[in-house]
Formats: sequence, C-alpha cells, structure tokens
Amino acid sequence: MSRDPLGFLTSLHQQHGSFVFVHSGLRRLYLAIEPELVREVLVTEGLKFGKSRGLEMTKRLLGNGLLTAGRELHLRQRRLVQPAFAKNRLAGYARVILDTTREHLGRWRHGQFLDLSAEMMAITLDIITRTMFGDSIGDRTPLVAEAMHDSLASFNVGMIPLMPVMQYLPIEANRKFWRGRRQLDSIIYDLIQQRRHSGDQGDFLSMLLMATDNGVPMSDEQLRDECMTIFLAGHETTANALSWTLALLAQHPEWLERARQEIKQHGAEDFSRLEECRWITQEAMRLYPPAWVIARMAREPVTIGGEALDKGSVVIMSSAIAHRQAQYFPEPEAFQPERWRNVDHLPRFAYFPFGGGNRVCIGEHFARMEATLVLAAVLENWDYRMLDRMPAAHAGITLRPVGGLPVQLYSAKG
Ligand code: HEM
Repeated sequence: MSRDPLGFLTSLHQQHGSFVFVHSGLRRLYLAIEPELVREVLVTEGLKFGKSRGLEMTKRLLGNGLLTAGRELHLRQRRLVQPAFAKNRLAGYARVILDTTREHLGRWRHGQFLDLSAEMMAITLDIITRTMFGDSIGDRTPLVAEAMHDSLASFNVGMIPLMPVMQYLPIEANRKFWRGRRQLDSIIYDLIQQRRHSGDQGDFLSMLLMATDNGVPMSDEQLRDECMTIFLAGHETTANALSWTLALLAQHPEWLERARQEIKQHGAEDFSRLEECRWITQEAMRLYPPAWVIARMAREPVTIGGEALDKGSVVIMSSAIAHRQAQYFPEPEAFQPERWRNVDHLPRFAYFPFGGGNRVCIGEHFARMEATLVLAAVLENWDYRMLDRMPAAHAGITLRPVGGLPVQLYSAKG
C-alpha cells in the first residue's frame, strides 16, 4: 500500500469488487468505488463521517483552514469563505489568470527545452498568489514560491509512518519546513495588517477580510490558516491537471488541432465559449484526477451499502479507480473528450474529481476556469514535442507525472 497505493487499491477493486473490507492493523478499512456508495459516504450519511487522521500532518502547515477544520469550525468557515468564490467574482479572477499566464509564456523561447510540469506549477502558484493578494504582494511573489517550495519539501517525508516522531528531529527537511512556514507566515500576517482597512480590492484576501459572522470578523490566525489552505489546495492540483492535459494532447494530435481551431475561432479569453477545451480538461481529470483519493472516518456507527460500519472505520474513495469503470465510461482507458458532449446518463458520483457533499472543493469553478484558460493561452502561442513517452503516474498526495513533462517548444505562430 505505501509503495504503490494506486496499484494496490486498483488490484483490490479488480479482485473483490466495488465495496471491499480490509483489516489494516487496528483500523477497519473499506474501499468504496460505486457511485451510490460514494454518495452515501459524502452526502446522505456525510455528517456521520469526519476527515481521517492522515490530515493531521497537513495541519502542521495549514492550521485549521477549511481543508482540515473539524465539523463545527468548518460549517462556520465555509459560510465565511464561500463569497470569495462567488460567480460574480470569477470575471476579475479570469483577468489575473490570463495576464499571469501570458507573462510566463512571454519568457518561453522557440526551440527551448523545458519541463512543462514545472512551468505549470510556477504559473498556477503565481496565479493563486495574485488572486489571493492582488497588487499588494508587489515583488514578493518569488519569495512566496521559495517559501512554499521549502515547506512542501517535508511533505514527502510526511508520508512515511514514522512521521509523528520525525517531525521533531532536526533533519534538513524539517529545518526547511519551519523556515518556509515562518517566511510564509510573516508575509501573510504582514499583508493582513496592511489590508485590514483598505476595502475591496477584488482579490480573495479582500473577501476574507470583509467576511463576518454575526458582525465578528475572522481572527488574524484564522485568516492566515484560510490563506495558507487556499494557497496549498489551489495550485498543485490545477498544475497537475494541466500537465496531464498537455501530455494527453501530445498523444492525440487530432484533439490538439480541434482545441487550436476553437481557440482561433473564439480567442483564449472567454471561458464559456471554449467548450471543447473544457471537455479536454474534464477528460484529462477523468483519467488522471489530481486529488485521486478521498478518505473519511466514521464518527459513529453507520450503515453504508447495507453494511454496518463501526465507529472509527475508514472509507477510502478513489476517483482514479472510479473514473475507469467501463459501465459508465465505455473504453475507459481511451482519451475521448467527445464523451463529455452528453453526460445525462452519468450518475452524480461516477465522476468526482472535486469530491462532493459539504466538503466539496470550494475552488471547483475557479479551477475549471483556470485550467481551461491556461490551456487556451498555452496552445494559442505554443506547440511542443514531448521528449519522453507518456509519463507514469506517481500517486502521492496528488497524482503527478513521474519525471515531469520534458518537452521542446515551438512557436505556434511560425
Ligand atoms: C483541478 C484542481 C483541483 C482539484 C482536482 C481539487 C480537488 C479537491 C477535492 C477532491 C477536495 C475535497 C477533499 C475531501 O473531500 O477530502 C477539495 C477541497 C478543497 N479545495 Fe480543491 N481542487 C482543485 C483546485 C482548487 C483550487 C483552485 C482551490 C482554491 C483556489 C481549491 C481549494 C480547496 C479547498 C479550500 C478545499 C477544502 C474545502 C472544504 O473542506 O470545505 N481547490 N479539492
């Protein structure tokens, strides 16, 4: 399981079906794949489940933001944070997404070799930094990137079972983590102070600062936790979605061409008109869902799929496995964006790259728009040749392409 979690879960599913019980040490562990089971865990019986312990590590960096908050705090915070993601804010964010992407693309050169996956990471981190803090971040964007990099470096160490002890040892990864965390904290607290009284600037931070619960605003610490959470949850996932999309398009030149035609016809600016580009990203997230696994722990005894689960049982739901079921997605291994033309027949939880229920991804619309616009901006100007075969997937916290995505770039404008 720890060496190849996705391979292990896939073989469990293939050998034992859609609802599998595994004895794993002291815990009772279930793997749930059928849409109806996923719906029961995330929605119908959702309140009987909490997030599983795996998240405790993430709390070291995120504190008690939306992703990690317990039930009561989550309920309040979700109400406070939601307006930052309202539909009427999206147009402003679209501008930031396109400007930021084009700035990065402007540094690319015809004939250059680069790792598209690293580029996507840099672009999405820059986008989230600017949508969060607007202009007030000034020239501190590279500092944020470096601090983020340092604090995330320890998360690989964080996946190993000894971690509860490891986190206190003076090893390099921990030193980096604390250095990165201190750096990020100081930037975020500084910006919160600067901005407390500056009104709506159109960015996430404005909305978080204006949000009140019965007239009471968030504390600085809660604000910091929400900012950090949006930072972390809001860039690596989208970067991976984009990397897989670009890798798949390189294998399917007919779709690359269709996307180009659509962009030529409608421009890269208007998300709502880029229908085929949307299908393409959606199909890429079917085959390679960046958040490939979601886990929940029963807070009380609960019945799922007719089976009685004890308190403390853990249910794992993997979109990476669920999305490849032939009864919902004919020829499931094939990249066929066209299948998204009509999805009326699809049960709600046959496809869940953004989770579901009360903890569904708050950034879903933002991420869909971002992935489509960044893709359109790239294809509008650049062509690329992959230097290796289709990368294998590494199933860590997110589903990443092993070895990145080395390419050679060509200007698409000749
Ligand atoms: C393709 C990109 C993305 C994917 C695949 C994705 C996926 C997910 C998934 C599956 C969850 C639910 C986790 C669970 O139930 O345990 C989640 C939660 C969350 N996501 Fe995303 N996400 C993406 C982009 C974003 C972006 C762009 C943001 C912010 C700008 C964001 C912010 C969050 C937050 C704050 C949560 C916690 C929500 C809560 O518990 O109330 N995500 N995401």
